[in-house]
Amino acid sequence: MTSAFDPRPRTPLSFVLLAAAALAACGGTPDGDGAAVADAGSAPSTSNSDAELTAVELEQGIGPVRDLNLEGVDPALAEAGEAAFTQKCSACHKVEERYVGPRLGTVLSRRRPEFVMNMVLNANEMVKRHPVVKELLGQFYTPMPVQVTDPDEARAILEYLRSVQTDSTASSPADPAGDR
Ligand code: HEC
Repeated sequence: MTSAFDPRPRTPLSFVLLAAAALAACGGTPDGDGAAVADAGSAPSTSNSDAELTAVELEQGIGPVRDLNLEGVDPALAEAGEAAFTQKCSACHKVEERYVGPRLGTVLSRRRPEFVMNMVLNANEMVKRHPVVKELLGQFYTPMPVQVTDPDEARAILEYLRSVQTDSTASSPADPAGDR
């Protein structure tokens, strides 16, 4: 393939580019013609921000929570979590059955605890970018909102969910087999 550009720019072309740059610099239109020149090649293509999740993000979700080291359930923390859950989640989720959103009494047998916390803290981005959650959205039609921004509160809710799991394989710490 031959390059589109002559390695030695001809005077008229560089003059045009300089003129455009000068216009952009002093013209005062932030997204105007000057920017269009620079973006022309790459602009609309695809929004491939969707595609590029890391293996860790696929498994643990997209968000601030990584590699929790969970011990046995802490009853006091679970109780605090239950209060928060009742207030902020129960309009859409039940432990025993599907409701506006998925049933959460078995969630830890299908998702990592980090995934659950990241969903709570970062639902918007999870809904937009995580393939598992995008698929759920296709079934539930409601994009889950962020109701909790405090990681400690999200952690308490996780503890509550751990305490009500009906599948006993749920809360064991991950085996590192699947690595990243
Ligand atoms: C307005 C309704 C609504 C509220 C409030 C809500 N959720 Fe959700 N949640 C959903 C829906 C719907 C989904 C499925 C994904 C989607 O459509 O966004 C979901 C998905 C989830 C998932 C993933 C389930 C799975 O099977 O992977 C978890 C975990 C979760 N929610 C936890 C919570 C917690 C904890 C709260 C409270 C802090 C909460 N949600 C508040 C509607 C809600």
